[in-house]
Amino acid sequence: MNHKFHYDSVKQTQKWLALHQAYSPTRNDADCLAIYEKGFQAAAENIKARRVHVIGLGCGGGQKDTRLLKLLKRRGREVFYTPCDVSTAMVLVARRTALAVVPERNCFPFVCDLATKGDLQEFLVTRHPSLVTFFGMIPNFEPQEILPRLASLICKNDFLLFSANLAPGNDYSAGMKKILPQYDNNLTRDWLMTFLLDLGIEKRDGKLDFEIEGGGSGLKRIVARFHFSRARRIKVDGADFKFPRGESIRLFFSYRYTPERVQMILANHGLEVCGQWIAKSQEEGVFLCRKR
Ligand SMILES: C[S@@+](CC[C@H](N)C(=O)[O-])C[C@H]1O[C@@H](n2cnc3c(N)ncnc32)[C@H](O)[C@@H]1O
Repeated sequence: MNHKFHYDSVKQTQKWLALHQAYSPTRNDADCLAIYEKGFQAAAENIKARRVHVIGLGCGGGQKDTRLLKLLKRRGREVFYTPCDVSTAMVLVARRTALAVVPERNCFPFVCDLATKGDLQEFLVTRHPSLVTFFGMIPNFEPQEILPRLASLICKNDFLLFSANLAPGNDYSAGMKKILPQYDNNLTRDWLMTFLLDLGIEKRDGKLDFEIEGGGSGLKRIVARFHFSRARRIKVDGADFKFPRGESIRLFFSYRYTPERVQMILANHGLEVCGQWIAKSQEEGVFLCRKR
């Protein structure tokens, strides 16, 4: 299933924000916080314009974007912000968070599906050089589908701040095994199962499993699948869906990269990494990029 459906309702948004608060290294690991801070500082040094428009693609609750806006403001810039997300609830939370720093007249909340919205440039055009953020987004998309759209939004004078969850160490497979347990916890299970439970599927209809698999472009990903241990039939908008025993639904995937793999996929889409900051755990990286 498309991962965007995990953020649709207010309930799912609240569950994801709780999960993020509990497990995101940016909330709990000072070193991981620091790599973002360094990326923000580098972006602020590189952008010379007095007015800067931050476009937060998949902004979530907007905490990272707001820290970036605060730093830009401290450095004397006039800041503008477009929190953009497929979830209305997330956009509203991000807007509220950012209003501590950005005047209301400079904030332009925008709900859209980045994967399907027709002409993104037309909707996200700004009058000032843009600093586009794409934090924690790439793991959940097929890179060849989202990156052409992302690259089309970056103009000559713009910068992109990009972050990715990484597989630590020099051995890609061993790194994947190391991080697998991070996905298998009660808050993540509860968040992912909400989609199925709200459609009428019951917990005892099957089992949610997490595993590692090979995806496209030589990348590996963590996949969450619900395996039906008994037959189940549900009706959604008048349509019948039958799941026989033994059937499974892929609820979620998360690609894990390495710094080299991030550089390579970005370069394939005309984006050059001009600075990178990797957490000591090697589990997260922030990349400052420009159009080549
Ligand atoms: C893992 S969260 C990252 C949130 C935030 N950038 C951060 O780093 O804290 C992913 C976000 O992407 C949004 N999202 C998922 N699919 C999307 C799509 N197709 N278009 C726009 N936003 C999407 C979700 O609603 C969610 O807020």
